[in-house]
Amino acid sequence: PLPDNAVEAGYRVIGFDSVGSTNIEAMKAAMAGNAGKIWYAALQQTEGRGRRGRAWESPYGNLAASLMIVPDAPSNSLAGLGFVAGVALNTALTRLMPAAAIRSGLDGADGVSDGGRARIALKWPNDVLADGAKLAGILLEAQKRPDGRTAIVIGIGVNVVAAPQGLPYPATSLADLGAPLDAPSVFEALAESWVECYQMWNNGSGTNRIIHRWRDNAAGIGAEVAVQRGDGVLRGIFETIDDAGHLIVRDDEGHRIAITAGDVHFGTT
Ligand code: BTN
Repeated sequence: PLPDNAVEAGYRVIGFDSVGSTNIEAMKAAMAGNAGKIWYAALQQTEGRGRRGRAWESPYGNLAASLMIVPDAPSNSLAGLGFVAGVALNTALTRLMPAAAIRSGLDGADGVSDGGRARIALKWPNDVLADGAKLAGILLEAQKRPDGRTAIVIGIGVNVVAAPQGLPYPATSLADLGAPLDAPSVFEALAESWVECYQMWNNGSGTNRIIHRWRDNAAGIGAEVAVQRGDGVLRGIFETIDDAGHLIVRDDEGHRIAITAGDVHFGTT
């Protein structure tokens, strides 16, 4: 089972077998004035939420975990904390699967053999891919509290035993990748690497180290992308992630465009 009402590395953990949504639990705690540094973790969600108002399937045995923190400097920390979470998750998963070479993360999608290794990579803004298929997603939410401070909720869903079906993109799970791991051990590794990465982020020059680590593990740099934004689709080459975490795309006319929010599709479709 998941730890429940335990304190690990200064963070309290509340564990559930099944819950509506761990992000909702974390938002409720934020509104109630909870000081933060608290994880809500579940083996199943019945109303899991994804990005952009989508549902997130959380069948029993997958990991749903939400961290609520009240950062000292919350102004524009939301996007940044997504990178911290992405790097922490990537670190945890590659530690759990030492054989997983971190390369482009897209190679597997074209059927090219990878010698049995799952390439784990980060997809902007904050998905984790293995062999080009989605293994985990992150949903960030901010909540202005009655005391005027802003709480941040970082919700992380990992497909441990099952990949959701019927999505408009390929999905995979740790079980599909041949990794016999369970949600509690994934949670433990994640909570541990979160502490390391958040410390790095909070310590001045560490901010850039997180972005650099994110970029070093990014899927699809140099690939053609189609970015769905509020105002339409932008096509071009995914050039890099800048130090502010923007997605930099070079369009057909050679313009470099910095994108702050959108959905990325690899390839030209
Ligand atoms: C995405 O759309 O890729 C983000 C998915 C985030 C899912 C996680 S599971 C834990 C937390 N609780 C939720 O309801 N959603 C997030």
